[in-house]
Amino acid sequence: MGESELRVPLLAANWKMNKTVGETVSFVGAFIPEVRSLLDSTRDPWPEVLICPPFTSLPALSSLLASYPVRIGAQNVYWQAKGAFTGEISPLMLKDLGCRYVIVGHSERRHIMGETGEMVARKVRAALDEGLKPVLCVGETLAEREKGEALKVNSEMTAGGLSEVKKEEVSQVVIAYEPVWAIGTGKEARPDDAAQVIGRIRETVDSLFGKGVSEDVRVLYGGSVKSTNIRSFMMCEEIDGALVGGASLDPVEFARLVFEVLRARPDRRTG
Ligand code: 13P
Repeated sequence: MGESELRVPLLAANWKMNKTVGETVSFVGAFIPEVRSLLDSTRDPWPEVLICPPFTSLPALSSLLASYPVRIGAQNVYWQAKGAFTGEISPLMLKDLGCRYVIVGHSERRHIMGETGEMVARKVRAALDEGLKPVLCVGETLAEREKGEALKVNSEMTAGGLSEVKKEEVSQVVIAYEPVWAIGTGKEARPDDAAQVIGRIRETVDSLFGKGVSEDVRVLYGGSVKSTNIRSFMMCEEIDGALVGGASLDPVEFARLVFEVLRARPDRRTG
């Protein structure tokens, strides 16, 4: 498939551990009219939009957004379908709630919860087995960047996360490049730096699966993205969208982000 068919820009919200069910309902009530009024003025269809709330808000979000082109996803998953795994959630359960995507290997899970590269690879595999699209997160720490290891680290994290993926499945995986030092700090990466790392991520995908395979893999940037800087990332051909934390919690700001993605890439959208 050609690039225009598969690499539709994706704007993904990671709400992290924020919003009760009531707050989720309020968010949708404010977000939908806001985004409609912004997009109506362009007469364009929406770009692909994804919201990943806490598990507890998935049922409400799923029913509230049922008639809108907004997908829902989870922030984590376990690799078994069912069984004695207290506190875990299976890919089957997420699918059952209407999830299309699941974030895997976010830096907060790796660094705070101690998720290893091997666990991340198993989660990616399990998501694909259930027909969920994994959003595989990679990103270097500040210390790694200062040592000049950013390209190497991101290449290794990409290869690790994709180690159980088959060539014909890679286009189902979304990779999110999120430098750890840019997450929640207000210090976003320079778009050309992000594009350079993403270029290396694509080279890694090609070296693993074959030349040209990475052209069908969407790679997002994440880390202090907001409506005032997303355009500079979207203008880079290498960057297919954004994974947004803090700025996605505000319905008006998130609506602006949808609008900015559409403005930056009016030629590639889902409809
Ligand atoms: P912020 O947008 O708050 O920096 O968070 C980025 C992130 O971690 C998204 O997964």
